[in-house]
Amino acid sequence: MSPALLSVDTTKGKYLMATRVLIGGQWGDEGKGKIVDVLTEQATWIARFQGGNNAGHTVKVGDQKFVLHLIPSGILREGKTCILGNGCVIDPSGFLKELDEVRAGGINTEGRLWISDRAQLALPYHRALDGARETRDCGKTVKIGTTRRGIGPAYADKMTRMGLRAGDMLEDDFEERLRHNIEEHNRTLVFQGHDPLGMEATVAEVLGAAERMIPMITDTTLLLNQAVLKGEEVLFEGAQGTMLDIDHGSYPFVTSSNTTSGGAATGTGVPPNRIRDVIGVVKAYTTRVGEGPFPTELFDDDGMNMAKVGDEFGATTGRPRRCGWFDAVVARYAVMVNGVNWWALTKLDVLDAFKTIKICVAYDMDGQRIEYLPAHIRRFAACRPVYEEMPGWNTPTTHIRTWEALPEACRNYIRRIEELTCAPAGFVSVGPKRDETILTPNAPADLKG
Ligand code: GDP
Ligand code: IMO
Ligand code: MG
Repeated sequence: MSPALLSVDTTKGKYLMATRVLIGGQWGDEGKGKIVDVLTEQATWIARFQGGNNAGHTVKVGDQKFVLHLIPSGILREGKTCILGNGCVIDPSGFLKELDEVRAGGINTEGRLWISDRAQLALPYHRALDGARETRDCGKTVKIGTTRRGIGPAYADKMTRMGLRAGDMLEDDFEERLRHNIEEHNRTLVFQGHDPLGMEATVAEVLGAAERMIPMITDTTLLLNQAVLKGEEVLFEGAQGTMLDIDHGSYPFVTSSNTTSGGAATGTGVPPNRIRDVIGVVKAYTTRVGEGPFPTELFDDDGMNMAKVGDEFGATTGRPRRCGWFDAVVARYAVMVNGVNWWALTKLDVLDAFKTIKICVAYDMDGQRIEYLPAHIRRFAACRPVYEEMPGWNTPTTHIRTWEALPEACRNYIRRIEELTCAPAGFVSVGPKRDETILTPNAPADLKG
């Protein structure tokens, strides 16, 4: 690499760091897509750094609704450039279907979307293996309730170093290696009692997709680092949430990537000391899709109301989301492992009609009060929420655009969340649309005024 490509002198004070990571602070679906869309107004580059099309980010632009799975939500704003970083797993057919949908929605993506040549491919055999694992009735195999997009098996191949990367699509031996991997994984499928994938149909599907993807594949590590050193604004768009992180989440009921802010560095090749700040997105309550412990989960009318008013159905699989009160232990943990500078607190309007609102401030674990998150899933499953109760505001908030105009009880609720989690709320979201967002007095300075 020519040194001239990275020639900005960062020691001379000319260098302005304008990079921001956005991550989910709960179990995903916090409203990251909407907040990314709001923040994209300021950014030049938007980069996904992990996950695949297991994500479902819903963005409402006027009367149009877009559901993005792999493509960064930044694609919806003209003139912004989007990156799928090396930490992502890319399903070629899923990616192209999504691209066609975005284009059909009137978005010009030409020259605005780049795929890292180091990104892993999630291929048809990964999907088949994911489905097979989820339906396996075999003693100790835990059902995760995955999205069945092949995410786990694709990351497994990355780690065992047999994975195919986007950059391999440009090489002469791609078909040969693809055939080899199909054979390998077919053996596992047959061993587990499933049908093997048809060799020719699978090869044709992947090679057909490769032809369309190749013009978008490039060295995005270089692109992003050059942009960062020029002081251009880069927004790293996280998928899933902290509690789904492969290391820090509620293992084994997690996804297979690092969803926390550190993943932005490893998943794009932009070093950690080039990342300026971190925004954590949390709902004003909690939801979860799939299996696994969820201390504040509700099975009563309150939970049903959250699901109904919040329209809590998975954007990728359509599964109903489990709902519960805000868990400050989880959010505090998210502040710790992500270094959250500000919260974007979403879906506050969903609580508009609740007479009283509960916040989980600690857990009761086998009779002992704890204020941290236990690492072991059995201990976490034993945690019962210790609640604090606050009065609701019982009035609509969706039309409100300023911090001062929010009802006092609502501001008190937000202040309490800030206290309990040790991070300020910079943004409050009171509806799914772009303008249904309030910048608080604590919002990042570069966004105020
Ligand atoms: P993501 O995966 O974190 O991007 O979140 P999802 O898009 O899966 O789920 C969030 C859902 O809530 C989407 O349908 C959004 O349109 C919607 N949404 C986002 N913010 C708000 C809000 O403040 N109020 C309401 N009522 N809906 C919101
Ligand atoms: P966004 O980006 C919520 C969950 C699945 C399952 C677990 C593992 O929209 O917030 P996987 O298919 O990744 O192997 O599934 O993770 N999960 C999500 N839950 N939002 C998501 O993404 C999710 N992506 C995966 O339900 O419990
Ligand atoms: Mg989602």
